[in-house]
Amino acid sequence: MATVSLQNLRKTYGKTEVLHGLSLDVADGEFVVLVGPSGCGKSTTLRMIAGLEDVSGGEVRIGGQVVNHLEPKDRNIAMVFQNYAIYPHMTVRKNIGFGLRRAKMPAADKARRIEEVAAILSMTDYLDRKPAQLSGGQRQRVAIGRAMVRDPAVFLFDEPLSNLDAQLRSQMRLEIKKLHQRMHTTIVFVTHDQVEAMTMADRIVIMKDGHIQQVGTPAEVFHQPANIFVAQFIGAPSMNLLAGQAVAGSITVAGRSLARDAGQTGPITVGIRPDDLRVTDGPSSFEGRVVLLEPLGAETLAYVDIGGQEVVARADGRNPPALGAVVQLHVAPENLHLFDGDGKAVE
Ligand SMILES: Nc1ncnc2c1ncn2[C@@H]1O[C@H](COP(=O)(O)OP(=O)(O)OP(=O)(O)O)[C@@H](O)[C@H]1O
Ligand SMILES: [Mg+2]
Repeated sequence: MATVSLQNLRKTYGKTEVLHGLSLDVADGEFVVLVGPSGCGKSTTLRMIAGLEDVSGGEVRIGGQVVNHLEPKDRNIAMVFQNYAIYPHMTVRKNIGFGLRRAKMPAADKARRIEEVAAILSMTDYLDRKPAQLSGGQRQRVAIGRAMVRDPAVFLFDEPLSNLDAQLRSQMRLEIKKLHQRMHTTIVFVTHDQVEAMTMADRIVIMKDGHIQQVGTPAEVFHQPANIFVAQFIGAPSMNLLAGQAVAGSITVAGRSLARDAGQTGPITVGIRPDDLRVTDGPSSFEGRVVLLEPLGAETLAYVDIGGQEVVARADGRNPPALGAVVQLHVAPENLHLFDGDGKAVE
């Protein structure tokens, strides 16, 4: 096990800088997920930790040691990619054992180690099969097994689940999380899927355009997003954003006055999570007309036009409003997220 530390990490391709000074400390045994839209620099960051890309500026440290100039094989890391390259002509046993091909240990020890890893991944019964005889999730486990077999100090995952169907993806998500709970290996996991990030991470790193936007636990980035980008990226459906006006003691939004002191006056952006905005019969914050309904089972998402601005609210799935109906929406003032003109969260 080891810590991973990035200090003012930069990457340029030709004249274009794509990572602009990233600093991040991953604790020993921590599960950190890098998340962000396509092209924000997640894979580049991971590949620099792995040693697959040169560092243009700054430092990568693993276990306290600067590894900028170490070969990937000397970094005590293992990487699992989206397109896991397992060999179709080799059995599961050979594929997992491939990770040990350079290891200097007796053949009997290697065989034992492969068995151990297969047991952890519940693949013991499949050791003599070839990849074509496995499901997608089992193949992914073989790729993980090959990475695990060397007992690396740090696991690096680059979107390892994105080729799997939705059900398998959520199953593998749990398996990787369980694996981490059992082994406590340091993990840096890249995904563009915020649900994956929220469900697996000890801490989430949200990136955009080669910059870190926020680092925090899933609860922190969800409940206290640092800015509008994070607020909208984390959580599905996305947070509603409305233009408001703050005066002392209240905020005017969509023609209504809500009792919340922004600590400042003037234009302000008001964010409301769909979860915090309920279709209600009781006292309401807004009134609007239902323009679309999306039944999810227990709940129904209601898209509601409030004075020309569309918001998403939750309604009881057993008793949803009718399309076109005028409904009342309620939000507790303390659940409003407030952002200033630069999109930064207002305390
Ligand atoms: N070899 C390269 N040469 C030039 N630019 C590159 C190269 N590799 C990546 N980039 C650029 O660097 C930026 C970051 O790319 P990166 O692959 O790290 O993004 P990502 O966050 O992993 O995206 P995705 O979610 O699509 O995988 C992108 O703008 C990309 O175009
Ligand atoms: Mg990528």
